[in-house]
Amino acid sequence: MLVRLMCPLLTVAGFLISCSSASTSSPSPAAGPSTTGSTTLSSAYTKKCSGCHGAAGATKLGSAALKGSTTAQATWESAIRKGVGSMDPFATSVYSDTDMKADYTILTGKTWK
Ligand code: HEC
Repeated sequence: MLVRLMCPLLTVAGFLISCSSASTSSPSPAAGPSTTGSTTLSSAYTKKCSGCHGAAGATKLGSAALKGSTTAQATWESAIRKGVGSMDPFATSVYSDTDMKADYTILTGKTWK
């Protein structure tokens, strides 16, 4: 009776096979999420940004730290591509979109949308 309640569409024999196999084939994500999952800021960041923003983005001249920043993505992108305050703009040839997005995720914990 309990078996029927749990797997109403299966016969008792089918239950033993399908449910036991289901319970033993627990999903085991071997490689983690499909994102890179990197926690290392890009080499471009280290070369071009860390002098002002610190190696891990923890400090920033004249403004809040990048690490843990809640700044909106559009503001973030604009600061980098158009410059802000005393910060010069950085072209994609110097600091690629790929690096910008990956670093944004590492620094803010948010995914680039
Ligand atoms: C010459 C020093 C300097 C360099 C180099 C520099 N920044 Fe900045 N950055 C600043 C300063 C100062 C501000 C704050 C400006 C303001 O708000 O007036 C800032 C602001 C920002 C902001 C906006 C943050 C916010 O909360 O609004 C981002 C994002 C940013 N920088 C990323 C970068 C990245 C990525 C690089 C490297 C490609 C970089 N910066 C290089 C000095 C620098």
